[in-house]
Amino acid sequence: EKGGYDYFMLKEIAEQPKAVADTLLGRIDAAGSLTLDEVRISASELREVDKVVIVACGTAFHAGLIAKYAIEHWTRIPCEVELASEFRYRDPILGARSLVIAISQSGETMDTLMALRHAREQGSKVLAICNTNGSTIPRESDAVLYTHAGPEVAVASTKAFLTQLVACYLVALYLGQVRGTKWGDEISAVIRDLSHISGEVERVLETMEPVRALARSLASKDTVLFLGRHVGYPVALEGALKLKELAYMHAEGFAAGELKHGPIALIEEDLPVVVVVPSPRGRSVLHDKIVSNIQEIRARGARTIVIAEEGDEAVVPYADHLIRIPATPTLLQPLVATVPLQVFACELATARGNEVDQPRNLAKSVTVE
Ligand code: F6R
Repeated sequence: EKGGYDYFMLKEIAEQPKAVADTLLGRIDAAGSLTLDEVRISASELREVDKVVIVACGTAFHAGLIAKYAIEHWTRIPCEVELASEFRYRDPILGARSLVIAISQSGETMDTLMALRHAREQGSKVLAICNTNGSTIPRESDAVLYTHAGPEVAVASTKAFLTQLVACYLVALYLGQVRGTKWGDEISAVIRDLSHISGEVERVLETMEPVRALARSLASKDTVLFLGRHVGYPVALEGALKLKELAYMHAEGFAAGELKHGPIALIEEDLPVVVVVPSPRGRSVLHDKIVSNIQEIRARGARTIVIAEEGDEAVVPYADHLIRIPATPTLLQPLVATVPLQVFACELATARGNEVDQPRNLAKSVTVE
């Protein structure tokens, strides 16, 4: 049932191109518009939405953090993202015009379920993004957009994450379409790029051997840091979470702009630091800033592991290890940038003799608060 792979996690990482394609299937029509008939919240209700609030836990929360960038950019609706376990305890401001999005692979996570119940009690509409048909979270929501990752068996979430991102992009684009905000060339171009993205994920998977070798060479390290900016920041958080779960290593993700506000004090000789570099096209200011961050940490001894777009030559002089990913629009970059981090964590776990599919102390679905 592992289809020739040693671990379910490896199989699920390899299934990502298909999972991404399946989640897009039937949702973009020939004319390039979105048809999300399953989202049973009417267009007129969606036009009234004045705030989006995303609630989720763990990896699904990281998908939500990325969704915020897409939703605010494409729809201009303010969007908050909150850990489901914190949400209802702070008496959040919600109303009939708030759209709450609950993201959950299992559909059974108690923290997320309690957050969505709280939102519905306040009169808000809840849209679930979920991978498990008929599970509790979609059953208790007003509408559901299913991700089509197929069953995810390994405790550490991989393919579900990529499909959560796809679903979030679809919701963001759909909101933009329904409301007519910024609906133009940029959005049409993104939809076109989304329909090719599964091939790009496949290309990343074909180039992972050096990432595995690098991971094995770091097996005796204690700490790995991850830096990113913009949507690369949640990707850094996700890379760190995967490493904690699987390799039982100390790992932290930071927004690169925060370095000088504290974390740079952690940099010491030969400390591995993974940096997710934004595209040099588009938001090139961010690109240039992160290149300076890489220079700063390298000058202090860090071993820099740089994830950068093909053709980005500016990073070459400062990268001790360079991991190439295909060029994508900035907002879609997490779909390709996360993959090497999953492979990295999985290989480190194996090298350290850990149980990849069943990390210690963790359960696949967390049904207690
Ligand atoms: C990380 C991981 C967890 C889950 C979290 C939410 O690899 O698996 O952080 O993402 O427990 O689970 P779901 O998505 O089922 O609500």
